[in-house]
Amino acid sequence: MDHSETPLLDALADYHSLGRYGFTPPAHRQGRGVDKRVIDVLGREPFRDDVLASNGLDDRRSSGRFLARAEELMADAVGASDAFFSTCGSSLSVKAAMLAVAGGRGDLLLGRDSHKSVVAGLVFAGVQPRWISPQWDEERHLSHPPSPEQVAAAWRDYPDAAGALIVSPSPYGTCADLTGIAEVCHERGKPLIVDEAWGAHLPFHDQLPTWAMDAGADVCVVSVHKMGAGFEQGSVFHVQGDLVDRQRLSKCADLLMTTSPNVLVYAAMDGWRRQMVEFGNGLLGAALDLAAKTREAIDEIPDVEVLDAELLRRAGIPRPRSTAGPDRRVGYGMLWLPGGRLAARTHATRLGPVRSPSSPGDLVHRRRRRECRAFGRRVVALARVGRRTRATTGHSSAVAK
Ligand SMILES: Cc1ncc(COP(=O)(O)O)c(C=O)c1O
Repeated sequence: MDHSETPLLDALADYHSLGRYGFTPPAHRQGRGVDKRVIDVLGREPFRDDVLASNGLDDRRSSGRFLARAEELMADAVGASDAFFSTCGSSLSVKAAMLAVAGGRGDLLLGRDSHKSVVAGLVFAGVQPRWISPQWDEERHLSHPPSPEQVAAAWRDYPDAAGALIVSPSPYGTCADLTGIAEVCHERGKPLIVDEAWGAHLPFHDQLPTWAMDAGADVCVVSVHKMGAGFEQGSVFHVQGDLVDRQRLSKCADLLMTTSPNVLVYAAMDGWRRQMVEFGNGLLGAALDLAAKTREAIDEIPDVEVLDAELLRRAGIPRPRSTAGPDRRVGYGMLWLPGGRLAARTHATRLGPVRSPSSPGDLVHRRRRRECRAFGRRVVALARVGRRTRATTGHSSAVAK
């Protein structure tokens, strides 16, 4: 397929170049009806591009196939059979997958570290959870995803469950042995759903952990806004094999989806796919190098420990697809952390008393005006693809200090 194509972006460009105007929602009329004080903050462009997806950008029957074509290109880019875009985050995609696999059919095997959206999906779809405990790491105060052995044991206890759902990467940046887990599920002819919300970038660099579809998962959900250059709420779910009925999945997603999807969210995902196919390897390689350098710098700060190669030594954590190249081995441990996540464990002495689980993050925010994620005594900063490497390094060292 021709990955220089961007059907949704091109349709939006045509919309503008033809000077089209809608007597339909959105009622702001491409920004004309918006209060100046709002424009002063948001600018006019977001409103200009916020046009109706159907019967606007495309006709009511979607005969322009802009969305369908963009989804085909996404699936082709990552090697999945099918891809579906959602503008309601992975929170929707994961619920759609759960509903399609287990809705009205009983039980689902689930990692106990599942995201809130999974729990909401259980309530909503009336599915009975059969929890699998993640592997709790006493020393580092974090959890690693369940192992294939744990999933096999859960299948022995609940052989009639409809499928399994595993979160990988975990919010701590640790990854499951998805190949092993997929094998265990498929031995019983059951589908594996992977909540890979934090792994949208994984297919685009061979020194990142294997992404779920390559590992044999049947459905995989990714948030493009988390690790890719998409707007908040941009999510894709991918499907392969014949264990999950595509039509049912698509209908479940349609049931849950908004009838007013945001074209900005769609178009940004379309453009991000083109960027990743054309430049992803180089951009992600640079992000990995940058993360490696930042890790080294952080490691020199007294009382701050960078979680790194030690995560590798844990049993059941998969290898990256490639370990080629001497330079890469320097940042080897880091490569396990999606997108070069820098998980620094803080000791109370340096940052002051830790009173609430979010204290390290609050401190970084208050003192340095940089936002990063904090779990208990851990701070996680994401090194992502960006054009201004020097600025990114500056921000990273501000977080480190
Ligand atoms: C593991 C996991 N799954 C699903 C979600 C939901 O993703 P979204 O914010 O795209 O709705 C999140 C969000 O943080 C997450 O961490």
